Amino acid sequence: MKKEIIQPVKYLTGAVELPGDKSISHRYAMLAALAEGTSELRHFSAAADCRSTLDCISALGADVKTDNDTVRVTGHGPRGLKSSWRALDAGNSGTTMRLLAGILAGQNFSSKLTGDDSLRKRPMKRVIAPLREMGADIRGREDNFAPLDIRGTKLSAINYKMPMASAQVKSALLLAGLFAEGVTSVTEPARTRDHTELALEEFGASVEKNGRTIRVNGLGAGSCSGKLTAKSLDVPGDLSSAVFFLAAASLFPDSNVLLHNVGLNPTRTAILDVFAEMGASNQMLGLKSSQGEIIGDLAVKGASLKGGVIAGERIPLVIDELPMLAALGPYTEEGIEIRDAAELRVKESDRIAALAENLRRMGASVEERPDGLKVAGRAAGKLRGAEIEPRGDHRIAMAFAVAGLAAEGNTVIRDADCAGVSFPTFFAELNRLAER
Ligand code: S3P
Repeated sequence: MKKEIIQPVKYLTGAVELPGDKSISHRYAMLAALAEGTSELRHFSAAADCRSTLDCISALGADVKTDNDTVRVTGHGPRGLKSSWRALDAGNSGTTMRLLAGILAGQNFSSKLTGDDSLRKRPMKRVIAPLREMGADIRGREDNFAPLDIRGTKLSAINYKMPMASAQVKSALLLAGLFAEGVTSVTEPARTRDHTELALEEFGASVEKNGRTIRVNGLGAGSCSGKLTAKSLDVPGDLSSAVFFLAAASLFPDSNVLLHNVGLNPTRTAILDVFAEMGASNQMLGLKSSQGEIIGDLAVKGASLKGGVIAGERIPLVIDELPMLAALGPYTEEGIEIRDAAELRVKESDRIAALAENLRRMGASVEERPDGLKVAGRAAGKLRGAEIEPRGDHRIAMAFAVAGLAAEGNTVIRDADCAGVSFPTFFAELNRLAER
């Protein structure tokens, strides 16, 4: 397992090469596998998670060809998937497992979905229960954990009021809805990322949004009356990866960092509002619409960060950025307090515990709570370099690499390769932009 040593830097300067958006890449790949013909997906994410999705759809009969960051997926229509002779391995990727569970529930064959040690500990009841309401036959360990045995069957549409705000649950149901008879509707209690809705529209499915309710038409039984069309699409840069550079640049007055073609879908940009409220200097430039998504450039300069409280309906919109925000806490004036985020405990690691442990290793003052944490600000003292244990979690590894840039002494990130789950070139990019 590779260690990375993070030395303090003076500032960051230059343009970052971001991977394609991970959430969007998963969705484009899955829908391309259900479409008729060859889709060309440019700037497809290099993340290990998206590789897991490509491996799964390939095992299900889609033809996948990768040429640098362009992926060509040839699908055989919505009823064109075939049963895989081996278990489908979603690796570390919750999105792969939950969204595929939705697709596989309505097939006319059986599948087994598994994943790595972390994924096999993450809750799946949240998709198993509503899919069962649609008629799905899914069995999991303790009725909640992978491996999942899915016996494909005929599904019926339901109207589902989600008890939790989760884009993955919403997406699993909308994808299952393609294979159900009638109109499936899903109502979310709070807004979550809407890439599935947008991608479904792009590929030609009939989707309707009304407030917090999304409806999708089934594609029709047998040799499907509805169709999905192969598409040529550009994946925007991943804002959740960009955030590590936004945070890193903000820490040093002389920083000047540019991020080109970043995905700026409004269901993802709440993090930019949080940064702006904290006093960060981020500017969005040249916004344009791209296949339903919005892209633009971000220019970031150094700033003095205030800190603050992040809670309530905002949490699902910044869920993946919370590790970075928490690790910035000691560099802010008031510190950072995160509430209503118990969901962080069932991500790739227990992120609340991982953040508290590693922040303390660096000398921060932290109060760990069931649904979040409170990290003291600058007055509690400067962070010291330390040995960081990311618990195999990419976002923990990257958050502490950034925290280490402004600490006293060197920081060692153990098992740094785990960053490849979302951002394989993260450490190379960080070193390229760092001025020491
Ligand atoms: C994702 C949704 C979020 C997020 C995850 C990716 C997606 O999970 O944390 O990294 O692509 O739909 P939840 O929707 O379960 O909160």
